[in-house]
Amino acid sequence: MASRVGITNGTSSPLNSSRFLSPSKNSSFQTQNGSNSNSASLMTQNKTVLVTGGAGYIGSHTVLQLLLGGFKTVIVDNLDNSSEVAVRRVKELAAEFGKNLNFHKVDLRDKAALEQIFSSTKFDAVIHFAGMKAVGESVQKPLLYYNNNLIGTITLLEVMAAHGCKKLVFSSSATVYGWPKEVPCTEEFPLSAANPYGRTKLTIEEICRDVNRADPDWKIMLLRYFNPVGAHPSGYIGEDPHGIPNNLMPFIQQVAVGRRPALTVFGNDYKTVDGTGVRDYIHVVDLADGHIAALRKLEEADIGCDVYNLGTGKGTSVLEMVRAFEKASGKKIPLVKAGRRPGDAEIVYASTKKAERELKWKAKYGIDEMCRDQWNWASKNPYGYGSPDSTN
Ligand code: NAD
Ligand code: UFG
Repeated sequence: MASRVGITNGTSSPLNSSRFLSPSKNSSFQTQNGSNSNSASLMTQNKTVLVTGGAGYIGSHTVLQLLLGGFKTVIVDNLDNSSEVAVRRVKELAAEFGKNLNFHKVDLRDKAALEQIFSSTKFDAVIHFAGMKAVGESVQKPLLYYNNNLIGTITLLEVMAAHGCKKLVFSSSATVYGWPKEVPCTEEFPLSAANPYGRTKLTIEEICRDVNRADPDWKIMLLRYFNPVGAHPSGYIGEDPHGIPNNLMPFIQQVAVGRRPALTVFGNDYKTVDGTGVRDYIHVVDLADGHIAALRKLEEADIGCDVYNLGTGKGTSVLEMVRAFEKASGKKIPLVKAGRRPGDAEIVYASTKKAERELKWKAKYGIDEMCRDQWNWASKNPYGYGSPDSTN
């Protein structure tokens, strides 16, 4: 099913704004190597990328950067935690490159449907975002998580192999570092999983290593994301979690727009600057650009199955994040203190050296830009892609 263009949900098209008419006028639209929509590099010409989970938060931002970078892009998403409106908005933001986007509402575990997509299009690589990601839910419903994340991935790998497409970028997570003994976390740190969600990430990493060992034609990039936040600077796409948000920034955002009364701060006795947990927040557009860098790396001959952290290398506490958001939004965020959240680590941030050295990628944005863009998205779309009555 091809997606249609034509929006909106109470938000005017960003294409009315001259700021977003030409990607080349805004550095946010540039891909990591400095190329932009007007200079899609030779490497990307005629390359087609399948993006599973491309309607979701990180996926939609990555699809936009791919299109602007000159890639043809096909999304497979079952819309379990996303909306087709996001796909339409990406298409609009991509302007003339929007014609290079196709969307299939398909569950990855539907092998016949996936086969059909691979039969009709030759993919140069796959970026695999599709998966369920709520830690708490994974503890309540482990089989749902194992079924969706593991069977979805195995089905994808089988169909890729059958069609001779053996280049994969996989969304792993800093969750595989558990409670790190020291920071920054390097890719060599010992791995562990504290919940079924984390175990799916660890298991898929292992599956990928096995697949590459068995058949060295496979080239696989395992990307361990730290904490993606923010939104596209247009305010036209962003994170829209279904249900009560698990993560800090979507929760803060919903407090700011009046959907929730206060933020509960989990833990104030950590050995950190102010007692609250410290994380490595990364702008989602920087993260999206990290995928373009990973795709470029896959073009190199000597790649096997390799792993990279995608973070900024900087730690920020919960209270520091709240203050930065209050500054960006002009809104007061009421706080309620609570005990530590089970399973939470004290301090987690990335060593970014390997990605900088080998992917030639480095995050450009800081906390102020993350909060600015998060608020821009939130204030323009207080109910995300939905309407007040259609949500939680
Ligand atoms: P998201 O929920 O917004 O996007 C995931 C997308 O996958 C959704 O659009 C969902 O509908 C789709 N999906 C789920 N199961 C599917 C299936 N069986 N078939 C087809 N589509 C399916 O999440 P996100 O934040 O964009 O995360 C993307 C990936 O990155 C996930 O694998 C997640 O585990 C990983 N990750 C996310 C974070 C984070 O904090 N957001 C951190 C580390 C890793
Ligand atoms: N926090 C609060 N209140 C909230 C939500 C979060 O105080 O309502 C605190 C947490 O205790 C933690 C910090 O904010 O100290 C960040 O919490 P998040 O839930 O936003 O992020 P996590 O680092 O716990 O986990 C997220 C994803 C995981 C992923 C990990 C690393 O949920 O799936 O980032 O990428 F693995």
